[in-house]
Amino acid sequence: MKRVITGDGSITLRNPEYDECYHSKSGALEESELKYIQPCKVTKDKKVLDIGFGLGYNAAAALEVGATVVSLEKDTQALKATQQLSIPLKSYSIIKSVASGKQHSRLKIILGDAVNTIKTIKEKFDAVFLDPFSPPKNPELWTESFFRDIKKLMKPKAILATYSCARVTRDNLKKAGFIVKDGPIIGRRSPSTLAYLE
Ligand SMILES: C[S@@+](CC[C@H](N)C(=O)[O-])C[C@H]1O[C@@H](n2cnc3c(N)ncnc32)[C@H](O)[C@@H]1O
Repeated sequence: MKRVITGDGSITLRNPEYDECYHSKSGALEESELKYIQPCKVTKDKKVLDIGFGLGYNAAAALEVGATVVSLEKDTQALKATQQLSIPLKSYSIIKSVASGKQHSRLKIILGDAVNTIKTIKEKFDAVFLDPFSPPKNPELWTESFFRDIKKLMKPKAILATYSCARVTRDNLKKAGFIVKDGPIIGRRSPSTLAYLE
């Protein structure tokens, strides 16, 4: 996969199948921190559901502050790609280790189509990182029905964050029963999206 240097100097990759990068070109690491960790108020001992593990940047940022993470990912190529990357977060060593098949007490990667694997999860989460590719390219993870499955796994005060503010994203979140608000504006004109339980 082609390497792309993002605005904060961190590297992302371009996925040839989706013809999209794994992160915002304005800054891959900045995106993890400002669009996911901070708005979801992720701190030590919080539980995070990470949808679209990808290269593991969001998961690493959550591990870095002491959270426990369950990640969903269908593509073993993304897991393999982590072995060639280095990012300035100590927890990236956990990402590489778990992506290569080892176990860790604070990170679990569930392999398979998230539409199905999400139904197997029994625990509840304080935060959800919803980070698939864009709605037109990756529609199955932006549906009302998938959002209803996410909702079942959220604690009452949990926060869902996603970079997308697309109409379909917000409409389907609302249809699934979420309260939807603007998230931070980082690296583009439009805000990201935060969603809460009613
Ligand atoms: C934008 S990337 C995620 C970047 C990642 N959050 C990070 O911090 O590096 C989207 C990821 O969602 C995964 N994905 C897409 N559709 C999926 C599906 N139906 N089930 C599970 N994972 C999926 C892709 O393989 C890709 O790794």
